[in-house]
Amino acid sequence: MEVKTIGVVGAGQMGSGIAQVAAQAGYDVVLVDVSQEALARGLAAIRRSLGKFLEKGRITREAHDEALGRLRTGLLLEDLAEADLIVEAVVEDEEVKKGLWERVGALAKPEAVLASNTSSIPITALARYSGRPERFIGMHFFNPVPLMPLVEVIRGELTSGATRDTVVEVAKRMGKIPLEVQDYPGFVSNRLLMPMINEAIEALREGVASKEAIDGVMRLGMNHPMGPLELADFIGLDTCLAIMEVLHRGFGDDKYRPSPLLRRMVQAGLLGRKTGRGFYAYDEQGNKLG
Ligand code: NAI
Repeated sequence: MEVKTIGVVGAGQMGSGIAQVAAQAGYDVVLVDVSQEALARGLAAIRRSLGKFLEKGRITREAHDEALGRLRTGLLLEDLAEADLIVEAVVEDEEVKKGLWERVGALAKPEAVLASNTSSIPITALARYSGRPERFIGMHFFNPVPLMPLVEVIRGELTSGATRDTVVEVAKRMGKIPLEVQDYPGFVSNRLLMPMINEAIEALREGVASKEAIDGVMRLGMNHPMGPLELADFIGLDTCLAIMEVLHRGFGDDKYRPSPLLRRMVQAGLLGRKTGRGFYAYDEQGNKLG
């Protein structure tokens, strides 16, 4: 089906990035959040990112202005009623996503395609909450969305081929590379990435090395652009913990047990870059301090 308008729910780090790439690809976009403050922050992030692209000559002034002109925001799920594709990027919490999809499933137009950007929650379960499992799919973007080329496409048990074709086409028009994976806990990306991050946190807790040394080993020895602790801060420690819990529950295997240090940091509200402090400290713009 032809997609003209994309609704994005959740204006956090991921939702704002998804809204931006959708607008840059020429779609009309409505970005919805429950919090006015989150919408303002999301829009500011989009302006900053488009401004950088303009400064570096990667987009024209016209493309910059047109992308901003295609973006609307809203505080009500009803604002999604006209969307042909709805991409959800709210917090990684199955109860929150369940409540949201029950409501969105009831108000989206009948032919709309519904997608979740979840990092780890089963697509098949979210599809069921929406009441439209054949039109539901996982569309997993990577952070920062405007720069990362991958979209993991996850078909649920009942997702139709036509739904898959629609999101593959949209992802390509956004300039992304879609890769299809099966609906198992953590899909491919987080099944591999998150246990590595969790192990780095355990190594820190056991005093194997300092955080700088742990990150340095992976950067300098394995050629990773960011060390695992820095990356955990970037993703958000609450999201990392939520993903580990899904892997632990989903496989029933203690090798996925979340690190107690990760849990304690989340309890303390030290969520990483988005709260200004995690394993490292960050300024208002999210730049690492020290
Ligand atoms: P975030 O915490 O930056 O943003 C979440 C946003 O959802 C907030 O603005 C919040 O106000 C909003 N929200 C919460 N409940 C809502 C509701 N009922 N209706 C509308 N908005 C609501 O989180 P982030 O990092 O953007 O993650 C969002 C999703 O993307 C999660 O499912 C996460 O697992 C996934 N994801 C995250 C990645 C990352 O690197 N952070 C990478 C890929 C996927």
